[in-house]
Amino acid sequence: MERIASVDEIPTKGVLFDYKEGPFDEQGILVRTRDGFKAFKNECRHLPMRLDDREPADIWDPHGRYLVCNSHGARYRPDDGLCVSGPCEGSHLKELPVVVKGDEVYLETDKIGGFFNV
Ligand code: FES
Repeated sequence: MERIASVDEIPTKGVLFDYKEGPFDEQGILVRTRDGFKAFKNECRHLPMRLDDREPADIWDPHGRYLVCNSHGARYRPDDGLCVSGPCEGSHLKELPVVVKGDEVYLETDKIGGFFNV
């Protein structure tokens, strides 16, 4: 289990963090939800590209309501990662296991077989 951030440090638009899945360097997105926090792999379900692979690098829609893939416009709900519109509508971002302990949010690395760096 590795610390991602303190609850107080996580901005409204969440935080990106690096981690490993086996030998692969990956990036995650930790977001605030109505119930707490969720983390997702920063990889679109249309094509294996990061949501912020193209400009603008902001992964949120202008209203801060959905995560957006800048390649072809897929929009994902931050509460559950469901793609609500775009070429992969109906699919989900890959959720990463996180847990809140005290004032800290941790990635449960033992459940994904890797480690990470913020
Ligand atoms: S790669 Fe994300 S919508 Fe196409």
